[in-house]
Amino acid sequence: MAFGLAMLVVFLAVITTAAVVDGFVPPSHVQSIDPTKVSETPPFDHPGLRKVADGAYEAYYVARIFSFTPSDIEVPVGSRVTFYVTSADVEHGFSIPATGVNTMVTPGWVSEVSHTFRDRGTYLLVCNEYCGSGHQLMAAKVEVK
Ligand code: CUA
Repeated sequence: MAFGLAMLVVFLAVITTAAVVDGFVPPSHVQSIDPTKVSETPPFDHPGLRKVADGAYEAYYVARIFSFTPSDIEVPVGSRVTFYVTSADVEHGFSIPATGVNTMVTPGWVSEVSHTFRDRGTYLLVCNEYCGSGHQLMAAKVEVK
C-alpha cells in the first residue's frame, strides 16, 4: 500500500515536471487563446479561408455547440490546407475521415493540422468527440474542385 502510494507520488512528480519544465501541451495544440474571447480574438473573430500562396491555404475554424464556422469552404484540387481550430465552449473533435485530419479541439488552445487534398470531392468534416445532445449534428464541408 505504502509502495503503491509512493509510486503514485513519483509518477505525478514526473508528469508535473514534464509539464512545467518542458512546457508540454496537448498534441497539435500550439497556441493558447482565451476561450471566453474567441469571437473578439483575431483571426478567430473572422473565421474562414485565407489564401497564403498558390495552392496553399489557411483555414480558421471556431467550434461551438453544435456547429463549425465556417460551415463550408472550397479549395482547388491539389491544395494544401492548414486548419487552425479552437473551441468557444467545450471539448470538440475535428476530423475529416480518410484524410490525416483528426484532432481534438480544446477550449483555450488552437489545434493545427494540415492536409493536401489530391482528389476532388466533397469531404465531410465531423466532430468526433461527444460534446452534448446535438453532437451528431455537428459537421461541415470541405469542397475540393
Ligand atoms: Cu462537437 Cu461533438
